Amino acid sequence: MLLKDRTIVVTGGNSGIGEAIVLAAAREGANVVIDYVAHPDEAAALVQRIEQVGGRAVGIQADVSKSKDLHAMVRKAVDAFGRLDVLVNNAGIENRTGLLDTTEADFEKVMAVNMKSAFFGSQAAAKQFIAQGGGGLIINISSVHEDWPMPGNIAYCVSKGGIRMLTRTAAVELGEHGIRMINVAPGAVSTPINASTEADPEKMKRLDAAIPLGRMADADEIADVVVFLASGKAGYMTATTVTVDGGITQGSVGL
Ligand code: BGC
Repeated sequence: MLLKDRTIVVTGGNSGIGEAIVLAAAREGANVVIDYVAHPDEAAALVQRIEQVGGRAVGIQADVSKSKDLHAMVRKAVDAFGRLDVLVNNAGIENRTGLLDTTEADFEKVMAVNMKSAFFGSQAAAKQFIAQGGGGLIINISSVHEDWPMPGNIAYCVSKGGIRMLTRTAAVELGEHGIRMINVAPGAVSTPINASTEADPEKMKRLDAAIPLGRMADADEIADVVVFLASGKAGYMTATTVTVDGGITQGSVGL
């Protein structure tokens, strides 16, 4: 097992890519902490599925847009399993508006859930890693849109661009403590965040045509990369992004 007895906290762990990461990590022997904000039933069901197959998991309620909650989440993870090995800053939302029609409230919400959460989650994890000694790993679930415009989804792009620079700067600051930080940048993935696209056959046709592999990813295909990065087999990687996008960002109309 690749993650035997390692403690991994996954924010937004009860749905979408987060849920796939939780299940993949549990299959590899990790102690899993599932952070959720609003659906204790979903997190409890996931904990039960993991325990039924002999895994270890706990659900923790934390609003990732609040620094205080993130610090408490790390404390509770350590109370449950004795230490923290990996934090996955996964929680994320998008609102699909452009510059001209984004309200201040929309902007602040997207930035708080996506970027502020990664910032203060990383701070909380890094302080724990330093206190316990031996380094640690932070993985941010970013997006191809950390570096690639998605017109009509501008606050999301800005938040992911912020996460890109957070990872590069914090990894440089934290290297001396043996703490690494890596972004995983998925392309289009079949999860609730893409429900409106998946419900529209025309949009799906255009999206699939833009992806060299011709299809969206399954969340498991992102989770497998996260497990690999968390396994200790990627120990020299830090301050960078792993893109998992079926080639979408390299697509060309061939003119
Ligand atoms: C966004 C999706 C989009 C995908 C590919 C993701 O980060 O959440 O809405 O379909 O990138 O562009």
